[in-house]
Amino acid sequence: MKSILVTGGAGFIGSAYVLMARRLGFRVINLDALTYSGNMDNLESLSDDPHHIFVHGRIGDAQLVQDLLEKYAPDYVVNFAAESHVDRSIVDPDTFVRTNVLETSIFLRVVKTWWESVHFDSIKKKDFRFLHVSTDEVFGTLQVGDAAFTEETPFAPNSPYSASKAASDHFVRAFYETYGFPTLITNCSNNYGPRQFPEKLIPLVTLNACAGKSLPIYGTGENIRDWLHVEDHCEAIQLVLEKGRIGETYVIGGNSERTNLEVVKNICRTLDELRPLENGSYEDLIHFVSDRLGHDLRYAINCSKLQSELGFLPKHNFEDGLKNTIQWYLQNNEWVLNVQNGDYRKWIQMNYTERTE
Ligand code: NAD
Ligand code: TYD
Repeated sequence: MKSILVTGGAGFIGSAYVLMARRLGFRVINLDALTYSGNMDNLESLSDDPHHIFVHGRIGDAQLVQDLLEKYAPDYVVNFAAESHVDRSIVDPDTFVRTNVLETSIFLRVVKTWWESVHFDSIKKKDFRFLHVSTDEVFGTLQVGDAAFTEETPFAPNSPYSASKAASDHFVRAFYETYGFPTLITNCSNNYGPRQFPEKLIPLVTLNACAGKSLPIYGTGENIRDWLHVEDHCEAIQLVLEKGRIGETYVIGGNSERTNLEVVKNICRTLDELRPLENGSYEDLIHFVSDRLGHDLRYAINCSKLQSELGFLPKHNFEDGLKNTIQWYLQNNEWVLNVQNGDYRKWIQMNYTERTE
């Protein structure tokens, strides 16, 4: 049985990946610090699974990581662990530097040192891969009409989050160039799907609407994101992990560019159908609020490299995937109540009460 050391596997995308990897028959060692967005409820279906080994800890804990590598000798490492929310990075950039830059480089060094060591089976050594999961936000912003991002687009990160992810991507690249460490990098567009922490647009708007609360749209709502279902992202990661060329970067997108206003109105229409209000529409709850600082206008991905080299095509279309996602939130009230704890309420209060209309 092949094994994968997954980091951040209790978060939104990491947990979807862990569930997929178990379906595919990999043993998973899941290292997660359980920060505010890490959630063991995401892994509930694996609670009795002997081939899912959960370890509570940080990627920057060199001794812990080394012990895990020596104990489990994984065939692959997939690194999801990160601070992931742009608005939080605007309030507290240091935390993003600590996890996304410093801890990621410590993690890389420890894994690289183990990979080089005699402890590692020489046959497995050749096929070993370290895949770093990153974001399209490292490329900065596009204007409407600009060509979409490719693997060749220069980095121009605009937020502390994207700057910290760009730095981590550079370290991964440097480990390949300097040490020949077998790395892969993926830069993906915005994900949506079940189990996303409700600080992000789609779950936040869905749950606010259900609670009769206002739906905050930053600025004009004309900002554009390219949306990809989380399961499609995980499939793309697996393709790159097993078939990608080492040292390469692959951009991943959903070919589903939508303005934020379109996305929010779509959520409202879906809720009007699934859970109609007695009077009016959920759209009546939309409020335009003051903009995010440094708000990127548009992201778009040209993923022809992934398509032509590895045959990737997203399976979910955005409208159906969004409807299923909204249904998931409606059906999983306990999951929702558990994440809307004191910390969450504090964040919502901090981020939204000072935004003027
Ligand atoms: P998330 O915030 O839901 O999950 C992050 C996970 O990492 C959490 O479980 C958290 O506990 C864990 N973690 C944080 N710091 C850690 C540390 N020091 N050591 C170990 N674990 C730690 O984020 P997500 O949306 O699932 O994103 C996962 C990865 O995918 C991130 O690297 C992010 O940059 C990238 N990404 C996200 C998107 C998106 O749309 N959400 C798009 C492209 C790329
Ligand atoms: P988000 O889900 O935070 O992802 P990202 O910043 O990584 O793209 O935000 C998606 C878009 O939605 C982004 O343009 C910011 C906007 N947005 C709002 O308009 N209102 C909100 O309350 C949030 C959280 C985001």
